[in-house]
Amino acid sequence: MTPDLMEAGARALAAHQARSRAYASDEVYFGQGVALYVDEISVSFDGFKALNALSLTIDVGELRCIIGPNGAGKTTMMDCITGKTRPDSGRVSFGSNIDLLRLSEPQIAQAGVGRKFQKPTVYEQLTVFENLELALKADRRVRAALFHRLSPVQRERIGEVLELIHLEHEAQRSAGLLSHGQKQWLEIGMLLMQDPKLLLLDEPVAGMTDEETERTAELFLSLEGQHSLVVVEHDMKFVDQLTQGRKKVTVLHEGSVLAEGLLSEVQANEEVVEVYLGR
Ligand SMILES: Nc1ncnc2c1ncn2[C@@H]1O[C@H](COP(=O)(O)OP(=O)(O)O)[C@@H](O)[C@H]1O
Ligand SMILES: [Mg+2]
Repeated sequence: MTPDLMEAGARALAAHQARSRAYASDEVYFGQGVALYVDEISVSFDGFKALNALSLTIDVGELRCIIGPNGAGKTTMMDCITGKTRPDSGRVSFGSNIDLLRLSEPQIAQAGVGRKFQKPTVYEQLTVFENLELALKADRRVRAALFHRLSPVQRERIGEVLELIHLEHEAQRSAGLLSHGQKQWLEIGMLLMQDPKLLLLDEPVAGMTDEETERTAELFLSLEGQHSLVVVEHDMKFVDQLTQGRKKVTVLHEGSVLAEGLLSEVQANEEVVEVYLGR
């Protein structure tokens, strides 16, 4: 083979590999068992560093609780993962192949990252069932199929989610008539309809009764393994229930990780007590 034929061959091969990579990058790839890499991200608001070289890693199927005082940067971190805020520096990667900093908010959701904000945003006039149906319709892959009516598989999926969120007996009620806790569960159910690989939950039990809080912990524990979950919460009883004495929690302070370890370990950490728990 002549040198220029070899060069042309190498170029064609490189182009083919680039195309394959672009194709493969549509779908998240969890090659290293890691769902989310946050690598040294910093964000400033008018010179104030809300995030300061924050790094953390969430494994596939892991349930991670994040705690820390108000203003620590917990919500800003979620804003950076979901594309609402662009960090000034650093990297955020979903699995080993998706650079989240290159995607828009809808593209990030489409890639499999679901986010639950603090306030529930369900459609109050619609029934619980219709809310879940609508969440399914927001998925572009099935939009065409849904134009007329739900398929048996979709109906079944709604049934499964209703059971998971303990609303199987409320399916035909208007969402506006649900309790605060039930609305929160419905919104989590709406997220689940999109089958996200990674779920971000910002203070999910704020304003819930003790019983609702306990049921929410059960729900999250049942999602663990199938999904990766990042839960920001102040309620230590809830965090204790979620971590079951064996899972790692992360403490954020002034935009970076102050401590990481078992809840009992971070609760005994003097710095953590000083900035957060001891207040
Ligand atoms: N859009 C914004 N503009 C200006 N400052 C902001 C903005 N978002 C957050 N901050 C500031 O960044 C810091 C971190 O906020 P936040 O991420 O909401 O903390 P947390 O969720 O841990 O309570 C706070 O001091 C907050 O006032
Ligand atoms: Mg917050």
